[in-house]
Parts: sequence; C-alpha cells; structure tokens
Amino acid sequence: MALTTRPLKLADLPVIEELQRLNPAASQWNTLDYLAYHTVVCEDETGIIAFLCAQLIPPDEVEILNLAVHPDHKRKGVGTFLLNTLTAPTQHLDVRQSNVTAINFYRKHGFKKVGHRKKYYTRPTDDAIMMTRQLKRS
Ligand SMILES: CC(C)(COP(=O)(O)OP(=O)(O)OC[C@H]1O[C@@H](n2cnc3c(N)ncnc32)[C@H](O)[C@@H]1OP(=O)(O)O)[C@@H](O)C(=O)NCCC(=O)NCCS
Repeated sequence: MALTTRPLKLADLPVIEELQRLNPAASQWNTLDYLAYHTVVCEDETGIIAFLCAQLIPPDEVEILNLAVHPDHKRKGVGTFLLNTLTAPTQHLDVRQSNVTAINFYRKHGFKKVGHRKKYYTRPTDDAIMMTRQLKRS
C-alpha cells in the first residue's frame, strides 16, 4: 500500500465528514473549519483514508487538533505516517481521557502527559489529557 499526503482541498470535505462520522472518538468539527488550519490528507490507491489537522505555531511548535484514520485502515501505520509529516520540534495536543487508543498511540510516539483539564470536553463530558513531545534535532 503506497501512502501519499497532500494538503486538504475544498472538494475533499464530504470525505472528511464521513471519516469524522466513522470515528466518533475524533473531534467532530464543521469541516469547513479545517481549511483554516494545516490539514493534510493521506491517500492510498482507493482515495483518502485519513487526515490530520494541526495548527502551526512558528517558529518551532505545532498543536495537533485532530487525526482520524478510516476504520478499515487502522493499526497499519497510517496514523504514524501522518504524524511523521509534522516536523516542528515541539508538538502539543489535547486528547479525551477516555480515548485510550489515541493516548496509547501518542505515548508510543514519545508524547508525555503534561497536564489535565477537568471536564474540558462536552457532548459527552470528559477530561482532557494534555500531551507534549520534543523531537530530537538531527
Ligand atoms: C488513534 C489513531 C489515529 C491511530 O491510527 P492508526 O493508523 O490505527 O495507528 P498506527 O497503526 O500508526 O499505530 C501505531 C501504534 O499506536 C498504538 N495503537 C494504535 N491503535 C491502537 C489500539 N486500538 N489499541 C492500542 N494501541 C493502539 C499502538 O502502539 C500502535 O503500534 P502497534 O500496532 O505496533 O502496537 C486511530 O486509531 C484513530 O483514527 N482513532 C479515532 C480518532 C481519534 O481518536 N483521533 C485522536 C484525536 S486526538
């Protein structure tokens, strides 16, 4: 499976909406809002199978805002492939405390818990785990 990435386009939004729907653990946004951020889609020969949305904070930080992989393609390295496109040395994110899969995923990639926000999320209410990683400069 050859994976490629490219920036999100307006025409992709219906597919992104479907990816969100298939991933209730992901943040559920108005998909137009993704165009205001650094949003990258991941494609294989079938089309878009995942996306990552982040806010670039120059000169050397990034905040991951959302990441979702199509259920048929999970646990095959797609999330890792998208995460690896982010090269800012300092990387931040918030994740629902109940989202054990995502917390495991980010831990595997070197993110450490740096904070806890009580009842940060609504619909449903949940705490946020704040995580950060520092990429080693090569
Ligand atoms: C979290 C998510 C992006 C991971 O994507 P993925 O492509 O399945 O992840 P990868 O295949 O790259 O997995 C890398 C590692 O993450 C961890 N991981 C991934 N899925 C896991 C699961 N279901 N249970 C436990 N650990 C898991 C493992 O350590 C895995 O390594 P391994 O397969 O060698 O054990 C994906 O599960 C997803 O879309 N979840 C729903 C949306 C979401 O929660 N997004 C996060 C918003 S902050």
